[in-house]
Amino acid sequence: MAEAANGLPRVRLEVAERQLELGVERATEGNHGIVMAPLLQETGLISLDPGFLNTAACTSEITYIDGDVGILRYRGYPIEQLARDSSFLEVALLLIRGELPTAGELEAFETRIDKHMYLSDDFRQIFSVMPRRAHPMATLGAAINMMAGFYPESLDPLDPSAVSLATVLMVAKMPTIISYIYRRAQGNALLYPKHGQSYVENFARMTFQLPGEQFDAPEVFYHALETLLILHADHEQNCSTSSVRLIGSAQANLYMSVSGGVSALSGPLHGGANEAVLNMLTYIRDNEIDPKEFMTQVKDKRTSVRLMGFGHRVYKSYDPRAAIVKVEAAAVLEALGVKDELLDIAYEVEQVALSDDYFVERRLYPNVDFYTGIIYRAMGFPASMFTPLFALGRLPGWIAQWRERIVDPAGKIGRPRQVYTGPGLRDYVPMEQRR
Ligand code: SDX
Repeated sequence: MAEAANGLPRVRLEVAERQLELGVERATEGNHGIVMAPLLQETGLISLDPGFLNTAACTSEITYIDGDVGILRYRGYPIEQLARDSSFLEVALLLIRGELPTAGELEAFETRIDKHMYLSDDFRQIFSVMPRRAHPMATLGAAINMMAGFYPESLDPLDPSAVSLATVLMVAKMPTIISYIYRRAQGNALLYPKHGQSYVENFARMTFQLPGEQFDAPEVFYHALETLLILHADHEQNCSTSSVRLIGSAQANLYMSVSGGVSALSGPLHGGANEAVLNMLTYIRDNEIDPKEFMTQVKDKRTSVRLMGFGHRVYKSYDPRAAIVKVEAAAVLEALGVKDELLDIAYEVEQVALSDDYFVERRLYPNVDFYTGIIYRAMGFPASMFTPLFALGRLPGWIAQWRERIVDPAGKIGRPRQVYTGPGLRDYVPMEQRR
């Protein structure tokens, strides 16, 4: 491919008799981007790319994924190292600020978070008016939206101090909100955060501690939870993050932008897949279906059966997060003394799929959702809570991406075009003339 002076591919578009040379935005890693700005003005044409398979909506400095070789880095740091050596709040600061914090910076952030985990009695009313059978993601989105009403001093997206406060309040109150959703569904009292406990310890205690009892979990429980939150923390321009950025592009506040991300994440093709995987494995077990037989259903296009937890828009190799979760799952179940036949079924399903041409040809591998539910279940969470747990992990990524979008100097309000294929001009037909 001929190179332009800057060493990037030269891009020329021939439209009718016209030659249009398009600029290329250099990537530090991965795909460079053709700058489409002059296309409409110069040619009267627009680009059409349903699902954005070939379209970058933005430049970003936050997360890099190479789907061909299974690379995931947050601000340049490999996910494997962060999962092994970091903490969730440290990763949150890294994603949001762009650099690893010093010990003092991390301690100051942890102290601010610890101070704001509390939810007022007025706020807690929300959980009593939502039906117990409401899906937790519906309540989660509603509660986050309500934060815009309870914390008006933190709404202005163009005021850095308000953005800083909203960031802390959102990170601090998310575990409390999610624990309250679970407690409400269980019919148990809502507990208060305890100063001095770690983020994951507070969350686990507020979620699982029963009246009159202490909640003590082994270190492997907290380590697994911290690791899962780190693994979910960001993933570049996925469906929910793109939703958060698009809503933020209208200068909507952080809470209402994040609530939009929760809505997108709830879909079974996205964050809802972890719950769908567990339901799928349970279906296979309860109906005593041979995984090979199940794969026949999956490959039969007349069914709408998908192998949940498999496939990915970007990863055409093993999702590096899934590889870490798979190891963690075995370790956690052993340490907790939990024997879960669904894990054995998951192993068998993976093995059958990875040796089946249908999956090999389409480069379909386990993604982050395939094994996570096994761990959450061993911890005591019901499947309906798996996607809120995904949201808890993804929150720092949503916040970092929203903040990047809000300060983007090139940032215009996101407003995609369309190719109209509906009827041409026609006149209104009075009712009596209609057939
Ligand atoms: C997440 O984007 C992100 O980064 C998301 C995420 C994040 O961290 O934010 O990684 C989290 O959402 C992970 C994905 C969770 N979803 C699932 O596990 C649901 C099952 N997976 C699929 O529905 C699917 O793989 C998607 C939605 C994940 C990706 O869909 P694409 O990229 O649009 O791919 P596609 O639907 O066009 O599939 C290409 C082919 C099709 O077959 P053909 O038309 O070529 O014959 O692969 C087939 C699909 O039918 N296929 C599957 C399949 N996934 C794709 N067939 C069976 N089972 C599957 N899971």
